[in-house]
Amino acid sequence: PDVVSLIRIKRDNLRPLTDPEINWLFAAYADGEVADEQMAALLMAIYLNGLDAAELRAWTGEMIASGERLDLSGLGRPTVDKHSTGGVGDKVSLVLAPLVASCGAAVPMLSGRGLGHTGGTLDKLESIRGWRASLGNDELLAALAEAGAVIAAAGSGLAPADRRLYALRDVTGTVESIPLIASSIMSKKIAEGTDALVLDVKTGSGAFMADQEDAVRLATVMAGLGAEHGVRTRALVTRMEAPLGRAVGNALEVAEAVAALSGDGPPDLMEVTLALARHMLDLAGIDADPARAIASGRALDTWKKMIKVQGGDPDAPLPRAAHRQAALPAPGDGYVARLDALAVGVAAWRLGAGRARKEDGVSYTAGVRCLAKPGDRVRAGEPVLELHADDPDRFAAALEALDGALTVTGEPPVLPPLIVAQVG
Ligand code: URA
Repeated sequence: PDVVSLIRIKRDNLRPLTDPEINWLFAAYADGEVADEQMAALLMAIYLNGLDAAELRAWTGEMIASGERLDLSGLGRPTVDKHSTGGVGDKVSLVLAPLVASCGAAVPMLSGRGLGHTGGTLDKLESIRGWRASLGNDELLAALAEAGAVIAAAGSGLAPADRRLYALRDVTGTVESIPLIASSIMSKKIAEGTDALVLDVKTGSGAFMADQEDAVRLATVMAGLGAEHGVRTRALVTRMEAPLGRAVGNALEVAEAVAALSGDGPPDLMEVTLALARHMLDLAGIDADPARAIASGRALDTWKKMIKVQGGDPDAPLPRAAHRQAALPAPGDGYVARLDALAVGVAAWRLGAGRARKEDGVSYTAGVRCLAKPGDRVRAGEPVLELHADDPDRFAAALEALDGALTVTGEPPVLPPLIVAQVG
């Protein structure tokens, strides 16, 4: 094959690429025989015309085979992980990994940093004094054996083709493609070596896949890919119309996650976390009640162990922002009917919680606290948000992002269920 013909085939939607063609493409790209601009053109053709099921299976297989696949079979415990497509205030991973580990599974959660308005799990954990995201494979296995759960940066050996392809997609307008997203996420999760996987595919204003039908399609494609590659996979589609919990921002979210592990989590966060935990335990074949693991203190103990194994001090005070400002006063007495997740996510980002470019750092202290959430009663003039920043000059841009983010109604709103669909 030659790459220009492959690009033309996908561009004109003439026929699916064959397994040998896809195999050749990845080898030639790794060797430098196929250039970045040629791969970018092919990605755009795929963005426009898609991949069928056989192409997607082969494509994902090549992404996995571009690197190593971890072997976790020596742990002697069933392994199960969770991946979220990302949301606002989504600190579920921080609670879930130690929670499910405290019930007897091993949770090898290789995770990422935030980009855009959604936070990254590693950025959140790095607000804990001493905590290290990068572990070598031996350290990763040792941490898993000791704590039962590890949340760490995916090493460069896992699905390296995805790293290169994602960087190209990021600068060529080809991120938002269901087959490309599915192969990107699933190749990393399959290479991580987990036996089972639960996906939390977010839908709504603060999600990557705002449209619910798209989210269900993405969930279905990812669950199918997992099954084809021998990973028991189930997906929940959950709503991301309002921030999850009350805290948005790195250290603020760690504090809320610790509260959740201590039995004092906000109801929406607990609903999603416990549902995901039950599915993870089910796929792992473990009969345990995660709510009891929290009530007994075992989940919190596992959290402390997990943080310590990676050099962190779970008892150290979390950093706090130097400046706070009240925002979004309620326009009248009533109930919060809508608090837009995207607007709050963008505000937290502008306050410094997120990064504009991959190379940027984040502020651990910046973020937003939701003083009221959808369904809560408010009085006229009462602020619904509290903004946190180290640099008070950032408040103005955050306030601008929040314009129109709040709806208050006279009657209590009917809130739709958080979990909207299950696949697999
Ligand atoms: N997250 C990923 O890891 N890959 C994508 O393509 C999109 C989101």
